[in-house]
Amino acid sequence: MSSQVKRTYGSRPKTIFPPSSPISVASSSPPPAPMKRSLLFVPNSRPTKRIKLSKPKQKTLVQLHFCIDKSTLQKCSKCDMSYTKGVEEDEALHRTHCLKVKKGMEWGREEEKEEVLEVESMALLKSGKKGRIVCVRADATGKIGAKLNTIYNMMDTALSAPPLSPAILNKSKVYLFLLPASTSKERIAGCVVGQQITTAMEVAPLADSTGSDDTKEEPRSPVVLIDSSSGVFCYPKPLPTSLGIPRIFVPSTDRRQGIASKLLSAAAATFIHGCRLDPKQGHVAFSQTTGDGLVLMREWGGGGVRIYDED
Ligand SMILES: CC(C)(COP(=O)(O)OP(=O)(O)OC[C@H]1O[C@@H](n2cnc3c(N)ncnc32)[C@H](O)[C@@H]1OP(=O)(O)O)[C@@H](O)C(=O)NCCC(=O)NCCS
Ligand SMILES: [Zn+2]
Repeated sequence: MSSQVKRTYGSRPKTIFPPSSPISVASSSPPPAPMKRSLLFVPNSRPTKRIKLSKPKQKTLVQLHFCIDKSTLQKCSKCDMSYTKGVEEDEALHRTHCLKVKKGMEWGREEEKEEVLEVESMALLKSGKKGRIVCVRADATGKIGAKLNTIYNMMDTALSAPPLSPAILNKSKVYLFLLPASTSKERIAGCVVGQQITTAMEVAPLADSTGSDDTKEEPRSPVVLIDSSSGVFCYPKPLPTSLGIPRIFVPSTDRRQGIASKLLSAAAATFIHGCRLDPKQGHVAFSQTTGDGLVLMREWGGGGVRIYDED
């Protein structure tokens, strides 16, 4: 038997761990719609022509028409951002965001003057390109802090996610995949935020979630539905887990080259000094489950990656 706990960025419950009972049942009211970070829709409110009267002896009331054209509100299929077409400010914001989602951002050598640790100097991608992986505190300030904030904003917009709280950033590290862009500049071709956590839930194998287990063994324990769209079920018992991944992002032109997997492996190897974490042993958890993220999670962690609530 399973219960349903719909889990999205915008409608994240305060806690997804049930307090003591083994089964957590969803409330009867549906969860609120995900919080989309769309721009405000400003309707086109220009009045139509005045009606001309032959003898305007007295003041005539004029009928104003508001033309609200919903088609001006656009959603970009490349970056998922909603914006108002025709409003220059909206269009400019969208152009900037779309470009970051597609190609990432620049990384200047001057940024490296601050506290940046190189964790891999020669990371080879499937395409043959070589990059490197650096690590920096997630709550860094100064020039690098400003760059990180731009990256966080871009990831949050792309994922319709709320900003990571200062408390989370305080116990997190950021891993960046850098590809050469020109002689003095590099490009950020991937970002993983690693958060220090204490517990997470084990993801149930598909058979356990659907109840159609061919092995005819009793299910281990009741499961909770974490995300109805992707059908992820978890065993609700919190298990000790060290590393949480609240954000992971690779620009669209750099995907399927192994960048996310390399960043995750770098985080697992170096997040805790002197202790290499193993995703297959359940040492790593994701806080969210987008479609792409789920496939990556299963592929990289061999089914051992857990789920946690980042709050
Ligand atoms: C999810 C994401 C980070 C994956 O980055 P990536 O660098 O392309 O991932 P990798 O190349 O390391 O993928 C490793 C494996 O995961 C699987 N995988 C990853 N993305 C996949 C996709 N979109 N479709 C199918 N399989 C996928 C594949 O098995 C892949 O290996 P393969 O390319 O040899 O088949 C990237 O698609 C992204 O940024 N998406 C938008 C943000 C997002 O959804 N973040 C996840 C939040 S949970
Ligand atoms: Zn776009």
